[in-house]
Amino acid sequence: MKNQKRGHVIVLTYPAQGHINPLLQFAKRLASKGVKATLATAHYTLKSIYSTTVGIEPISDGYDESGFSQSPSVQAYLDSFRTVGSRTLSELVLKFSSSGSPVNCIVYDSLLPWALDVAKKFNIYGAVFFTNSASVCSIFWHITHGHLNFPVTQESGAPLLMPGLPPLDLPDLPSFLSQPAPHSPYLALILDQFSSLEENDWLFCNSFEELENELLNDMLGLWPLLMIGPMVPSAYLDQQIDGDIAYGASLWKPTTDECIKWLEKKLPDSVIYISFGSMADITAKQVEEIAWGLKASDQHFLWVVKESKNKLPSEFMNAIGETGLVVTWCNQLEVLAHPAVGCFITHCGWNSTLEGLSLGVPMVGVPQWSDQPTNAKFVEELWGVGVRVKKNEEGIVTKEELEMCIREVMVGERSGEIKRNALKWREAAKRAVGNGGNSDENINEFLMELF
Ligand code: UDX
Repeated sequence: MKNQKRGHVIVLTYPAQGHINPLLQFAKRLASKGVKATLATAHYTLKSIYSTTVGIEPISDGYDESGFSQSPSVQAYLDSFRTVGSRTLSELVLKFSSSGSPVNCIVYDSLLPWALDVAKKFNIYGAVFFTNSASVCSIFWHITHGHLNFPVTQESGAPLLMPGLPPLDLPDLPSFLSQPAPHSPYLALILDQFSSLEENDWLFCNSFEELENELLNDMLGLWPLLMIGPMVPSAYLDQQIDGDIAYGASLWKPTTDECIKWLEKKLPDSVIYISFGSMADITAKQVEEIAWGLKASDQHFLWVVKESKNKLPSEFMNAIGETGLVVTWCNQLEVLAHPAVGCFITHCGWNSTLEGLSLGVPMVGVPQWSDQPTNAKFVEELWGVGVRVKKNEEGIVTKEELEMCIREVMVGERSGEIKRNALKWREAAKRAVGNGGNSDENINEFLMELF
């Protein structure tokens, strides 16, 4: 631990796995630099989070038993979170003000913009943390600034052009932007992230400069995003920055020992790891196509099915034997870091994408919704670390398509180049977070200004 600095940063997270991981990691990174940091999170997630270096404190979203699943609708949940969350976050700030560790900054998840009002009320610093890529943030920013009509259409057939981004077709955009009404309640929430940008003292993004360099150059002067990622525990990037070596948060029980034992018996780069993150709900038809696509690829596979186990065809389960392992949840980083894993079939959630890049694992992108289609396009075309599937007219990835993509990444003509690119991005990620790297320096600058 470096010299303890005066002051105290509350890091506020939306209570979902893909948000807790990067925000908790950010709090740990601050703690490793001698700053008192506290993660504020919804009650029911407390028992799933662990840290030796960061305080963990509850706030309320109004549904303390089990959160979102208890609420009648997405909108009701978000409204409740805004009201009850503002009140309980204020109470937390007040509690610390009389404790000898007064809070002087709130870093909040961009999905919870009301936290900035709390920071203003107490006259302390407020900083937003985006859990999407800078490219995806910039697409939303263009919408909120009227540079793209909403809902976005592509009537002329010409690709959509935005500064710093490659030409994009409609299916490459975040899913909310091309869907006609009724719009997802998440859309208002996402666009709301950009409503009071200029009132923040800092804007953080979980990405790194080399990865989105062109975009950053073109955005310069428009809005000053500070890249501070990838927020992957530094031990996985061969660094010893964070006190804790794991994410330290798992909303489901991992089956890590079983996975590692199974992987130990496999040859290097011979296993496909497949997971669609914490939120995607995969249809039975799609699960079936994936199952037979994996079987046809003739490779070993480790599949995280979450709640979809009952959708797996019984003939498939009877046929897999030692070829495959099916689990409900695992420690994804431990699995991706294992030398036996040679391909990651992913929904391209931003954390999974960054984890695949940071650990140098070639990817097959199977995007589901939200920012994932855009991330998948970048994985294939900009960063060259994998391929993305084409869906049929029913929106399904067929077994033949999946098998073809797996072969391309693992044994095809381009597999060597894809692997080389993956290793190149791993090195870039290590540079960014390492001592003196861009992301590390950005965090240092923030702390210099804060204290
Ligand atoms: C969602 C969005 O998809 C994402 O793009 C957005 O930025 C955050 O919210 P999610 O769908 O859960 O998140 O995907 P992802 O962003 O990839 O996050 C999942 C996290 O869960 C990753 O950090 C991953 O390491 C972890 N995970 C996943 C596990 O620990 N075990 C598993 O078995 C699967």
